Amino acid sequence: MCGIFGIVTNEENLNIGNNVFEGIKRLEYRGYDSCGIVYIANKKLFVKKDSGKIDEIHKKLKLNEFPNGSKLALAHTRWATHGPPTKINSHPQLDCNNKIAVVHNGILENFFELKEELISKGHVFKSETDTEIIPHLIEENLNTHGNLKEAVVSAIKKCKGAFALAICHADYPDTIIVVRRESPLVLGIAKNTTYCASDIPAFLKYTRKCYILDDDELAILRPNSVEFFNIMSEKRIENKKLMTIDWNIGAAEKEGYDHFMLKEIYEEPMALRRTMKIPTESLKEFSESLINAEHIYITAAGTSFYASLAGKFIVTKFLGKYIEAIECSEFKTQLDNCLEDNSVIIAVSQSGETIDLIEPIRWAKKYNPSVKILSITNIVGSTLTRHSDQVLITQAGPEIGVAATKTYVSQVLTLALVALEIAKLRKKLSNEEIQKYYEALQSVPDIIENFLEKNVDLIKYIVKNLEKNLNFFFLARGASIATAKEGGLKLKEVACRFIEGYSAAHAKHGPISLVREGYPIIFIAPPDETYERLVGNVMEFKARGGKIISLVVESDVKITNLSDITIRIPQPEDKYHSLFSSITFIPALQLLAYYAALEHNLDPDKPLNLAKTVTVH
Ligand code: AGP
Repeated sequence: MCGIFGIVTNEENLNIGNNVFEGIKRLEYRGYDSCGIVYIANKKLFVKKDSGKIDEIHKKLKLNEFPNGSKLALAHTRWATHGPPTKINSHPQLDCNNKIAVVHNGILENFFELKEELISKGHVFKSETDTEIIPHLIEENLNTHGNLKEAVVSAIKKCKGAFALAICHADYPDTIIVVRRESPLVLGIAKNTTYCASDIPAFLKYTRKCYILDDDELAILRPNSVEFFNIMSEKRIENKKLMTIDWNIGAAEKEGYDHFMLKEIYEEPMALRRTMKIPTESLKEFSESLINAEHIYITAAGTSFYASLAGKFIVTKFLGKYIEAIECSEFKTQLDNCLEDNSVIIAVSQSGETIDLIEPIRWAKKYNPSVKILSITNIVGSTLTRHSDQVLITQAGPEIGVAATKTYVSQVLTLALVALEIAKLRKKLSNEEIQKYYEALQSVPDIIENFLEKNVDLIKYIVKNLEKNLNFFFLARGASIATAKEGGLKLKEVACRFIEGYSAAHAKHGPISLVREGYPIIFIAPPDETYERLVGNVMEFKARGGKIISLVVESDVKITNLSDITIRIPQPEDKYHSLFSSITFIPALQLLAYYAALEHNLDPDKPLNLAKTVTVH
């Protein structure tokens, strides 16, 4: 949550204003309550900030216009935690003398105590933010230390909590200091220019060379150099690994689409084809850990949790062992006192930074060091990967839309690949059977491509049809319950509609009482082992006047005959393809959510109150 971006350069022809403006725009999906930029010129700070979305503020303040001679800028886009989204609470936050500017992503837990201490020493606070502590602490330390780096280090040593910070001082116009603990921070290295940002796509247009900062590291950024130190030991870190990112900038641009969400839905076939190439060695190692484990848990948040529900269904088919799925925020509460030896935890996260996931993973390792952490994430070098024993990287490319789409299908596919690897290793199926499952899985990107080509008008028609219905159900059985829940989450997120994904079997234990003449129910009905029973559920709802919309395969007859409208997924009606229906059926619901958002004049890329990566508890 919150995005930070910084640039320090000595390139003659570089337009620092455009550069920092573009950079912070690319991070807007991390929070969009308010925004600010600080430039340094003539040993003075020049701050522009306000509440609102970046474009609105830019119209008023011309964020990209910078003072002559400025070679350094820091920017911030905020998701408010401490203090409402007002101009005064926007970042950067400054010290008493307007010399030090700080942008921050995270939460300082002991800020009340520190604030009181600083006030007693005469510091005057203007905002309600926790962040404002930092410039005042540095200011205070500079009275005794004289050296900016040392002043920052002793300030950070006093702070508890999570933070990624970028700091500048008016007297040092060629130096940014960055610090990281728990919140993500990456550095981009270009010719005569150094960047810092919360995420790689922010500087991808300018460089693919980057460093990933670890916890408790501090870096001093200048146009042609970066020095790294450990905050606690204060020792210099040598040989930090410079990485080359293989994403291209197109991946972080809209490329003609109206929204990132739509673009990313259309990128699903490509994301799946790439993810299909996860090295067999890594899949084998991951699968062996599951085969050898006694207790297996899978944990995640939000969309990643629903991907886990869908994926674990496929894995258990071949593993022959139960996998307990627990939402990560509940993990510690439920496993305290009973996380036994020979346990494996599968942690799933697009960003690899979700604090509600990182925290229980850290706890689990501490509680029982024999526990193995196996993770699935889209981000190389993310915090989750650093706490994991084994990692599978989905190859979805950067996902900018706040609503996860292409990463969802990539996560389920990764678990499906693990499932088939397990089938191979356990030798419970014939090679011929396994081959048929592989072929079905390989056809998934084509099925989605085909669906997306032909069904947009139908989805728009359904959206119009449902326009007046503020709430309805997605119902399903078995693995498709995950699809129903994820479809419901997408509509809640981007279209502000309370749509509930629920078990079709369980709906008669309560929710069915909502059904009246014309009440819409969307059934997710792949031809798997639950199909016949689902037919019965459809009839129960139809008998009560429900309007039945169903997602079925092309050759479907029974549920089609009971439905008012069908969305037909172009996949063969066999058990091999049906096993992967949680991947092939979800794009229809993602598109439905997207067009429902447009129908209600909502921006699907910037859902109210949400941020892409949740790094606060
Ligand atoms: C997805 O549409 C949501 N924005 C949200 O539920 C998200 O999936 C969740 O916060 C988990 O994020 P992660 O995958 O980065 O851990």
